[in-house]
Amino acid sequence: MVKIDAKKLKSLFVKFFEQKAHKSIPNVSLIPHEDPTVLFTTAGMHPLVPFLLGQPHPLGKRLVNVQKCLRTDDIEYVGDTAHLTFFEMLGYWSLGDYFKKEAIEMSFEFLTNKKWLGLDKKKIFVTVFAGDKDAPADEESAKTWQSLGIPKNRIFYLPKKDNWWGPAGETGPCGPDTEMFYDTGKKPHGKDCKPGDSCGKFIEIGNDVFMEYNKIADGKFEKLKQKNVDFGMGLERTTAALENKDNVYDIEILKPIFDKIKNIADIDEPTEDEKRSIRIITDHMRAATFVLAENIEPSNKYHGYVLRRLIRRSIRHGRLIGIQKNFLEQVAEVVVKIYKDEYTHLQEKKNFVMGELREEELKFSKTLSEGLKKFNQIAVQKKFIDGKDAFLLFQSFGFPIETTKELAKENGVTVDEKGFEEEFRKHQELSRVGAEKKFKGGLADTSEKTIRLHTATHLLNEAIRRVLKRKDIVQKGSNITSERLRFDFNFERKLTEKEIKEIENLVNEQIRKGLKVERLDTTFGEAKKMGAQAEFEQKYGEKVSVYKIGNFSIEVCGGPHVKNTNELSKFKIVKEESVAAGIRRIKAILE
Ligand code: ALA
Repeated sequence: MVKIDAKKLKSLFVKFFEQKAHKSIPNVSLIPHEDPTVLFTTAGMHPLVPFLLGQPHPLGKRLVNVQKCLRTDDIEYVGDTAHLTFFEMLGYWSLGDYFKKEAIEMSFEFLTNKKWLGLDKKKIFVTVFAGDKDAPADEESAKTWQSLGIPKNRIFYLPKKDNWWGPAGETGPCGPDTEMFYDTGKKPHGKDCKPGDSCGKFIEIGNDVFMEYNKIADGKFEKLKQKNVDFGMGLERTTAALENKDNVYDIEILKPIFDKIKNIADIDEPTEDEKRSIRIITDHMRAATFVLAENIEPSNKYHGYVLRRLIRRSIRHGRLIGIQKNFLEQVAEVVVKIYKDEYTHLQEKKNFVMGELREEELKFSKTLSEGLKKFNQIAVQKKFIDGKDAFLLFQSFGFPIETTKELAKENGVTVDEKGFEEEFRKHQELSRVGAEKKFKGGLADTSEKTIRLHTATHLLNEAIRRVLKRKDIVQKGSNITSERLRFDFNFERKLTEKEIKEIENLVNEQIRKGLKVERLDTTFGEAKKMGAQAEFEQKYGEKVSVYKIGNFSIEVCGGPHVKNTNELSKFKIVKEESVAAGIRRIKAILE
């Protein structure tokens, strides 16, 4: 049999489904610009939400792709044999075309036919939805599996928590699924072990979701206009099954990262604990490298907070296996090397990625040992880490909650995680209110001159994206006085004279056109759906106002603004400079 590694598996998958009349769609950004209900792309279906809901897709009803994904729900399990935060997903979709029978038959053919993966039929186990008040048991899937030769004793009926997928956010398309598992033949941990349990015997190699429901805001499920199939296969897990490995870290794409960390730590034969630490660093650093390459910086909010946790946890585990010096850049080098041909943006963003890692490692190394002292002090004195202590460790020493929890476990003490979350929320609330004030006020004063510059800032924000032809450019900061505006945004290089001129011209064109400036009151989720820009993320249902300037710009903003762009005089950029790695600043005036 030909050796099927991760690369080969990707190409076989796409080829198989292309032969079944599926059209290939792109591997999109890890930051879902189309779906405001989630922070990261957690599955290939995110960019397809509008099409699952019924909008016709330009490429038709059958699609296939490879998608990079990030999930943090299982972050605590990372370090075992199968859980990962970052992974690649192989997906195929039927948008109101074929349904259960054909999907299962195709999945099965791809998995078992010798021309394709050639996995042993006898080792395939499946699960189907057991049924509940929202939807009936999935007998059709069970029957289809039987017709393909999977006996009843290898078909398991499981409840919603196991066999229902989606929505990824609070609302959206979802439905019962049927999951495919491969029996590795390994001795299970624990007595009872069935597909879906984390006993190490079964590896999940595929999931056909039958999306015929839409979860709506009040938690109810309504039938969708069309019946869809959303299939996902974890690349790393299936490769492990094909390469007959008992854990994902031994496959070709992850092993060099694992080995690099082992070498830096100068360990020959890692103990179980050391192995877990090396696996955590392997996973987290691969994820962090990909998140950084999306122009995200470590911070205490949203994407940046997830990134910070990944990086800091890696540093702590580095210390646990005896690495005292800075080491993250060396690990990221390996990640970039493995993926640079396929994900060319990793190479393009390498300087930014490395710079941010260096800075974050320096920052956390300074507070880590002090924080550990503080932790030990509290643990010895109180034998319990309450919410305030956990928050102090986060706030003053930069300990992400996972780190505090892990330390607590190692020291036999407990942590009040709920208490921490409350403290965290309280703090977020405060800073959000602060942000909103800044957002609403934004302006040092509300003089006419300042208001005009505020409207010009919206025009500039949109003009930059259009001229540089980059949808991912967003506002990173803004400051307006009656004299000038200052606007920061993510972009990795100096703008050319020509680009600056084009931006100016585009803004002046909108001023000349005399566009109407309108205010709409809506929710944050709706605003994002309308395609509005927003400097600060807010809760989906949060009430916000949106300012629309003709059909040119739309932004979540508290105002105030002029009524018509013809109230603005000629716009001129006076300076363009760098303020931080990957961040540019423009200063401009209205002449
Ligand atoms: N969206 C489905 C999953 O992630 C296929 O498992």
